[in-house]
Amino acid sequence: MENRKLAVLLSGRGSNFLAIHEAIRRGDLRAEICCVLSNVAEAAGLARAREFGYPGLFLPSKGVERAEFDRRMLAALRPMDPALICLAGFMRVLSPEFVAAYRGRILNIHPALLPSFPGLHAQRQALEYGVRITGCTVHLVDEGVDTGPILLQRAVEVQEGDSEETLSARILKQEHDIYWRAIAIMLERRGNTGLQTSSPGPQN
Ligand code: GAR
Repeated sequence: MENRKLAVLLSGRGSNFLAIHEAIRRGDLRAEICCVLSNVAEAAGLARAREFGYPGLFLPSKGVERAEFDRRMLAALRPMDPALICLAGFMRVLSPEFVAAYRGRILNIHPALLPSFPGLHAQRQALEYGVRITGCTVHLVDEGVDTGPILLQRAVEVQEGDSEETLSARILKQEHDIYWRAIAIMLERRGNTGLQTSSPGPQN
């Protein structure tokens, strides 16, 4: 059986999670969300996930050492055997152990044209620098912060008088349109190369 299961990790609003959910519902993305995991109990995205009937996991990260938190995430995710881990506003840096466990299978979305403006407040960084074009990036996660091979990017023009809010809103619209496409590319790539996940069994 082809594994098309997605684990979505988020810390907040969850609009990218919703966009992925919508793409699946429309039939544009052939995938299945097997769980939504959050390190923030009150994350709006986690509440929405539960409303939709997805398994919603809360793992507290406050006061927990990174390596230990990530070990807990690995233990929680393992039984679900996700094909891909989709970071959707998950505001934590992953430990090398976590990256190694899912190497080449962790996707992140970032609101800038990487390698420009990594880290927090990417839209504010773009405005402060004065670039005329910024955008968003979906990339594979490695041990760095917002580094790793780029899968898809979308450019967004900075307009005269843009505030962080107006620019972020236009970028977000594009984020919602590229994340599911990048997931589809990864699932097709995995299908074509016959890459295995941790579970035994044939892959198409
Ligand atoms: C998105 O803009 C995403 O690109 C950004 O957080 C927001 C989450 O929004 N991620 C990063 O900045 C990661 N470095 P959402 O919760 O509505 O999807």
